[in-house]
Amino acid sequence: MAKLEARNIVKYFQHDDYKLKALGGVNLKIQEGDFVCIVGPSGCGKSTFLRIAAGLEKPEEGDILFDGRPVTNTGPERIMVFQEGALFPWLKVIDNVEFGLKIAGIPPDERSQISQRYLDMMQLTRFANSYTYQLSTGMKQRVAIARALVMDPDVLLMDEPFAALDAQTRELLLVELQIVWQKTKKTIVFVTHNVAEAIVLGTKVVVFTNRPAVVKKEVSIDFPRPRLVEDQKLVPQQQEILAELKPEVKKRMESE
Ligand SMILES: Nc1ncnc2c1ncn2[C@@H]1O[C@H](COP(=O)(O)OP(=O)(O)OP(=O)(O)O)[C@@H](O)[C@H]1O
Ligand SMILES: [Mg+2]
Repeated sequence: MAKLEARNIVKYFQHDDYKLKALGGVNLKIQEGDFVCIVGPSGCGKSTFLRIAAGLEKPEEGDILFDGRPVTNTGPERIMVFQEGALFPWLKVIDNVEFGLKIAGIPPDERSQISQRYLDMMQLTRFANSYTYQLSTGMKQRVAIARALVMDPDVLLMDEPFAALDAQTRELLLVELQIVWQKTKKTIVFVTHNVAEAIVLGTKVVVFTNRPAVVKKEVSIDFPRPRLVEDQKLVPQQQEILAELKPEVKKRMESE
């Protein structure tokens, strides 16, 4: 059984005088331990799809099944990491990371044991007692990932978490995230518009069409890790995916 299965997801949004169809019937199966990267033109519905999978939004038609059961709400087994990290600036790094555990009623000793592990994994131990405004953007993003991982979700839903980073920091995090994925064996759904990033990370890259989005193509990426962006072996698959994506981006430009 798929860990996460989208069955004909259709989503509309009401704008002033018209109904905008964002998702046009998305079908996708994500197996346990998959690292699925979704690429597609801007505004095609990638974030909307993730929010539906997180239970933050409801589709008009279709279902997302988690372990075979329809998703009706948010839940600790599906945790979202947003582009901007969305940390609490008034809390120290460690308190940001432990926040969800505290809410879940985990006792302090256990909380601190769990958070130490993930702070260490994300190389943040030295900054545990810093406030988030004292961190760089890349470090904040690592805090956001640690904060999600402590909850031990089955599925991590990541919406362009590296979009605001400079190239060097992004490359470091691309390697770190691959290592974290290998260590934790989480199922990850990762939205990006960066094809190179998608290929470096994914076991599978899914191309969405222009809005209303449907799945246009699924490409399996089967290379040893850690992969690097400059890896020449990845170029043919990058071209294959770009060839699927480019006409969709063009359609979007023409529709504006
Ligand atoms: N809350 C909302 N109300 C109205 N329209 C919305 C809402 N959220 C999204 N939309 C519309 O749905 C479409 C898909 O938006 P979405 O944010 O999912 O796109 P995206 O693929 O994530 O784009 P990007 O790559 O730019 O982040 C857009 O046209 C957007 O205007
Ligand atoms: Mg988006």
